Amino acid sequence: MTQPRPEVLQKLTPVLTKRWLSPDAWQIGVYERLDGYQALRKALDVHPDDMIQLIKDSGLRGRGGAGFPTGLKWGFIPQGDGKPHYLVINADEGEPGTCKDLPLMTYDPHSLIEGAIIASYAIRANRAFIYIRGEAVHAARRLRNAVQEAYAAGYLGENILGSGFDLELVVHSGAGAYICGEETALLDSLEGFRGQPRLRPPFPAIAGLYASPTVVNNVGTIASVPYIVLGGADWWKSMGTEKSAGPMIYSLSGRVVNPGQYECGLGITSAS
Ligand SMILES: Cc1cc2nc3c(=O)[nH]c(=O)nc-3n(C[C@H](O)[C@H](O)[C@H](O)COP(=O)(O)O)c2cc1C
Repeated sequence: MTQPRPEVLQKLTPVLTKRWLSPDAWQIGVYERLDGYQALRKALDVHPDDMIQLIKDSGLRGRGGAGFPTGLKWGFIPQGDGKPHYLVINADEGEPGTCKDLPLMTYDPHSLIEGAIIASYAIRANRAFIYIRGEAVHAARRLRNAVQEAYAAGYLGENILGSGFDLELVVHSGAGAYICGEETALLDSLEGFRGQPRLRPPFPAIAGLYASPTVVNNVGTIASVPYIVLGGADWWKSMGTEKSAGPMIYSLSGRVVNPGQYECGLGITSAS
C-alpha cells in the first residue's frame, strides 16, 4: 500500500481515530494516559440536563445512518416517570462497505465505554447494552475485556467515582442478521425474540427495551460524546458543515489506491 498524498493527509481531522495508531490503546492504562476518562470526571460534575443541552448545542447527529440530532433524542426520554431507562448502543454494523464501528471498538473500546457512561448519566439510565454483530468476535473480545477493566477501575458499577451514579454495562453478541441493525428489531433481538421491526408509535424513547424509555445510538455517536465534553460545542461545530457538525470516519474500499478508514469533517466530497 502506498502512502496517501500530503494534500490528502492535510484534510484529515483525527478525533475519534486519534488513538488508533498508539500501541495498546485498548488497554485502560494507555487510554488513561491519552486523556481517557477525563471527560467522565468532568461530566459527573455537571447536571444531567446540562449534559443533554451540551450535546444539543454541539449539533451532533447520529452516525448510524439517519442523522437524527442526538441531543434532541436524549431529551425525548421522560424524566421523573419512575420507570427504568436504558441506553442501547447499536454495534451491528452490517451495511456493506461500512467499517467504522468495528475498528473503533477494536482499537479504542474505552472511548465507547466512556461515552456510554456519560450518555447514561445524562438520560438517567442505570443499565446500558452494547449490541454487537455476532461475527465480530475479535472486537467483542476486546470490548468485554475493556468493560471488565472499567469495572475494576470504578468507572462502571455502583457509585461511579463517588458520584452516587450507578451503571451496569452489558455486551451482547447478536446472531448475525442484517435486520437486527434496525433499532426496533435490535430491541426484540436483545429481549430474546426473533429480530423483527416493531410498529411505531410507540417510539423507543417512550416504550423501547422491556417497554421502558430507551435511547438507541450508534457506536460512532456515543464515542463522540467524550470529545464534545472535553472540547466543547463550539470546537465540535468548527468541523463539518453548518447542519452536520463534527468529524466522520469514512471507509474507503474497493478499487481505490489506499483503502482504509479516514476521518474528515462531514461534508467532504470524494473529489476534494
Ligand atoms: C435495515 C436497517 C439496518 C440498520 N443497520 C444499522 C446498523 O448496523 N448500525 C446502526 O447504528 N444503525 C443501523 N440502522 C439505523 C438504526 O435503526 C438507528 O436509526 C440508529 O442505530 C440510531 O442511532 P444514531 O441516532 O446514533 O444514528 C439501520 C436501519 C435499518 C432500517
